[in-house]
Amino acid sequence: MTTANQASPIPAAAAGQPVDPRLHAIVERVLGDLHAAVRDLEITEPELRGALGFLTEVGTAGEWQLFSDVLGISVAVDANSHDRLAQATASNVEGPYYRPDAPLVSPPVSLCGDDEPGEVLLVSGQVRAAGGQPLPGALLDVWQTNQAGLYEHEDPSQPDWNLRRRFTAGEDGRYEFRTVAPAAYQIPHSGPVGRFLAALGRHPWRPAHLHLKVSAAGHWPLTTMLYLDGDPWLHDDTIFSVKPELVVALERHERPEDMAARGLDQPFSTASYDFALEPVG
Ligand code: BEZ
Ligand code: FE
Repeated sequence: MTTANQASPIPAAAAGQPVDPRLHAIVERVLGDLHAAVRDLEITEPELRGALGFLTEVGTAGEWQLFSDVLGISVAVDANSHDRLAQATASNVEGPYYRPDAPLVSPPVSLCGDDEPGEVLLVSGQVRAAGGQPLPGALLDVWQTNQAGLYEHEDPSQPDWNLRRRFTAGEDGRYEFRTVAPAAYQIPHSGPVGRFLAALGRHPWRPAHLHLKVSAAGHWPLTTMLYLDGDPWLHDDTIFSVKPELVVALERHERPEDMAARGLDQPFSTASYDFALEPVG
């Protein structure tokens, strides 16, 4: 904030020069806050050189998006974009691991082969409009890690597109898919962002989650995540993205007759979640 006895950190535009008013407002505010920090904290020249070197490394390593994530900026901007959709399911950041155009499959939907290691998880629910009406044919696009916390694109042992699928809800808006329980994982931390986290005594862990995009004609598309209740990192996500309303309880089924009814010979879990989309306009 610029006070009366302090000049604005950016000069007024010369008369007649075109100005982007939004950019001007953002730069003036952010620079004002930075100048205040430099003064109040008495930032030194070696500290400035260190910061500039670090930011250069972040760019060279291609970690600007990751840096925004661990600063909580990505989540804050997502809130600016989506909190106005008050009737819709809470949104969340897309993250860097989405691959568009995942295989489009028909029921019975499975995100992986039957031999995928891990505990089978059956997820079901309904996609509805904010007013409660089912949305027939809504499209769901789901991606997640395997039971070891690895996405298929970073793990040569997984088949291409493993644990990434698109499918549509039925005429009643209901959906069901089979997968395995994803695991908590560490975001990339061998580069400058990892060093930054370590210097602040922070860890790189994210709680286990599924990513989903849900869309239907005439409605704002939703990008979100579902978190598995009981995960040890649920209250300490390194990108600050957990919202309580996106945490799902798992019900474990161990009775032989329940397993047999699902064609399984091991205990499995179920989870249920209904999505609400807000109409456009
Ligand atoms: C993810 O959930 O896939 C993710 C989000 C932010 C940084 C790294 C990974
Ligand atoms: Fe993820």
